[in-house]
Amino acid sequence: MPATAVLATRATFADIVDRLREHFELIDNPSDTVWSAAELVERLQGKAGVMSTGSERIDAALLDACPQLKAVCNVGVGYNNIDVAACTARGVLVTNTPDVLTETTADLGFALMMATARRLAESERFLRRGEWTQTGIYDQFVGGDVHGATLGILGMGRIGRGIARRGALGFGMRVIYHNRSRLDPAVEAETGAHYVDKPTLLGEADHLVIVVPYSAASHHAVGAPELALMKPSATLTNIARGGVVDDAALAEALRSNRIAAAGLDVFEGEPSVYPGLLDVPNVVLTPHIASASVATRRAMADLAADNLVAALGCGPRAGHPLTPVNRP
Ligand code: 8YV
Repeated sequence: MPATAVLATRATFADIVDRLREHFELIDNPSDTVWSAAELVERLQGKAGVMSTGSERIDAALLDACPQLKAVCNVGVGYNNIDVAACTARGVLVTNTPDVLTETTADLGFALMMATARRLAESERFLRRGEWTQTGIYDQFVGGDVHGATLGILGMGRIGRGIARRGALGFGMRVIYHNRSRLDPAVEAETGAHYVDKPTLLGEADHLVIVVPYSAASHHAVGAPELALMKPSATLTNIARGGVVDDAALAEALRSNRIAAAGLDVFEGEPSVYPGLLDVPNVVLTPHIASASVATRRAMADLAADNLVAALGCGPRAGHPLTPVNRP
């Protein structure tokens, strides 16, 4: 019987490739080329499974063009790149990589929020430009305190709760959050967070951190009307997805000092960045690296590979992938 064929859309760790080859005939992408939609469809012909990343759009048109596809195993907790309903309707199983990246992503979210509050990127650029010619200037790069401030979290899933714990337990922050549904009181107590409505969150946060998954419902959840509710001294950090924040409105709010500063790891249309965000000094920009620690990227690839092996009926968990998103 010919081996089941699968595709890994992007480069990954060599031992993960070896492990997939123990079970499947694997086409991989060692040069890490980003394929067009047509190239992806072409490479998916005859493949029963795909280890995908956030860079590929798996939609109804692709699924119709690849009728042999049975499993889409995404390397990432977010899966807004996948039309899950279209997959379910066609009997295609979808998996993601939750949990393994929670703490690493919360670390980066907190670091970005701190860098934003304390103007790290702006002051480093100043120093590198050779402009630090006088010491002891009383108001040079003064920012907002993190300790003791009010931390506002939009989206209180696993990563949001990780950020809440860091703020409440590590930095003595008052933590408020807004979420589709209120957390269990025991979880609220454990994370030191208090539920508020969205206008209260926006109006009271000294540092707003956005961790809400992207969907049609969360598109531009923070735009001009929401920015208008924030304190002029407040910061905004987005580690969720591009599109949750209206980047053009944010650039204008930063340019006009409507809010003090922003820290962004994700962007609308990335890897392009809205030009207005590159022109303002009061923003810290990172290229979607929130889950990028060596251990976590390995754990994500491992989990996605385990899911693919199990989803296609191989290995010790045959038929039972660890972290399914749907049940077709
Ligand atoms: C990934 C992410 O780097 O997990 C997610 O949702 O955004 C990141 O951890 C990205 O999805 C690449 O696949």
